[in-house]
Amino acid sequence: MAIQAWYMDETNEDPRLPHHRTPKEYVSLDTLSDIGVLYWKLDAKNYENDPELNKIREERGYNYFDLLDLCPEKVENCEQKLKKLYTEHIHADEEIRYCLEGSGYFDVRDKADRWIRILVKEGDLIILPAGIYHRFTLDTTNYVKLMRLFKGEPVWTPYNRPQEDHPARKEYIKHLAGSGGMPVAAH
Ligand code: LAC
Ligand code: NI
Repeated sequence: MAIQAWYMDETNEDPRLPHHRTPKEYVSLDTLSDIGVLYWKLDAKNYENDPELNKIREERGYNYFDLLDLCPEKVENCEQKLKKLYTEHIHADEEIRYCLEGSGYFDVRDKADRWIRILVKEGDLIILPAGIYHRFTLDTTNYVKLMRLFKGEPVWTPYNRPQEDHPARKEYIKHLAGSGGMPVAAH
């Protein structure tokens, strides 16, 4: 089954709930690729020896990886970490995450600045482009194991919104405009 993504409702209920609109409004892979979000379905059980994963890593230069467990019961300061991850931000580089166990939500802004919620579960690898506004939360199962990949020495620094003058943001906006998209409103 392909990745599931949908437009979020605007309520302030628990972020770990799905936040579907009524009626549900799903978002296609094409819409995600229009905003630079890429997706692969891989065999998570075989992550240590997976030719498909190795090919992506080679082609895109992801020489670095580590594993990250997020689970309030097991991880120290987890709620604090999660709060940071759920604060809307960008990075100067791509964010590459491969879900090995559990599940969670990556929220990204579309061209009209609406939240798209992407459900990431076992075997889903997603790449968020540098400069896209995004955030992360666990879902109600409260557990995810993620592989983080990176090209070169890893830098995880989040730059919280607003970041309209950040070079990565400017580059991203330019790319969106160049790909025929609507300009994203500045905030
Ligand atoms: C991060 C994600 C989860 O920055 O947005 O690690
Ligand atoms: Ni991030």
